[in-house]
Amino acid sequence: MTQTAAAPRAEYGADALIVCDNLVRIYQVENIEVQALQGLDLLVDKGEMIAIVGQSGSGKSTLLNVLSGLDVPTAGSARVAGWDLLRMNHADRLTYRRSVVGFVWQQTARNLLPYLSARENVMLPMAFSGLRGARRAARADELLEAMSMADRAGRRPGELSGGEQQRVAIAVALANEPEVIFADEPTGELDSSTGDDVFAALRSANQDLGATVVVVTHDHAVSSQVQRTVAIRDGRTATEVVRRTHVDDEGRTQTVHDEYAVLDRAGRLQLPRDYRDALELKDRVRLELETDHIGVWKDSTARPASAPSAPEAAASPPAPREAPRAPDPTRASAPPTDAPNPFLPPEPEEGRDDLR
Ligand SMILES: Nc1ncnc2c1ncn2[C@@H]1O[C@H](COP(=O)(O)OP(=O)(O)OP(=O)(O)O)[C@@H](O)[C@H]1O
Ligand SMILES: [Mg+2]
Repeated sequence: MTQTAAAPRAEYGADALIVCDNLVRIYQVENIEVQALQGLDLLVDKGEMIAIVGQSGSGKSTLLNVLSGLDVPTAGSARVAGWDLLRMNHADRLTYRRSVVGFVWQQTARNLLPYLSARENVMLPMAFSGLRGARRAARADELLEAMSMADRAGRRPGELSGGEQQRVAIAVALANEPEVIFADEPTGELDSSTGDDVFAALRSANQDLGATVVVVTHDHAVSSQVQRTVAIRDGRTATEVVRRTHVDDEGRTQTVHDEYAVLDRAGRLQLPRDYRDALELKDRVRLELETDHIGVWKDSTARPASAPSAPEAAASPPAPREAPRAPDPTRASAPPTDAPNPFLPPEPEEGRDDLR
């Protein structure tokens, strides 16, 4: 079969439910620009439950505000369930927020109206859905049941614990059968065992009710509770941890966490700090394309030689690699993007600024 050079390339994230492509959000505060999102790429498939982690100020809430239709990005593109978040008019935005997405915020008080019962809170968003009253009440009860809150359906938020309020909030978020639920630190105000219950409720929304779930958290331990954890650093996705199970030689099911560096669309990735420190990688590195991986070597020409170092020739075989610790085959390095053959060792003046 022949392949023509003009064969159309599939659109980035064509099959994904959530697509962020080079997303930028710049806040202007007086004369200062704050770049909260700096070219973030993210794909989330329908049916996934992912966690987004990152330090304070890394851009997590900014991302969620954009995806939930509350904020408009400065540049790039963002699409959720086919809705283009940069091109929605006011009416579209309202429909999107009412029926395509659901949210759970950190502050329990922001999620529920204090003078309505749990059941009434869950029924409220359905007022716009066209469902008849009896059907709305029945659906509210089903959702509260799924969140293990059926026995408290008549209570107001003030008569519920923080964790219970968050479980009702998840039922509210699910009321209109949204494609995706966004939760920003939903367990931030809770102790850890109550937080686990709320996570279990989100998992049930995902597994039993079919909602795609994107949850932002400070807590790196959540990676054991979701299929994929995406870490954001400086307004970009930096690493991902993917959880999978496998059966060992003795037939026992084991859970394995594979950590990946995220390769963005321009070919950039971030080498983890401990890897850089262990090999004293700085400024620029030498790359070597092997049959099934890419080698990354310290630039031995750039610093005063502590060991004899012959000038590197492209044809010379690389020095034997030293792994700083158990090497992770999923981590590799990316080349500068415009070089004709990005994997050749760079010329002395090339190839430095894509590896941050
Ligand atoms: N409305 C705003 N105006 C100006 N700057 C903002 C605004 N919102 C966020 N920022 C800035 O954008 C950056 C990202 O903020 P964001 O709230 O997204 O971080 P975060 O990862 O959610 O942090 P946290 O974990 O503390 O909630 C920060 O530097 C923040 O100060
Ligand atoms: Mg935040």
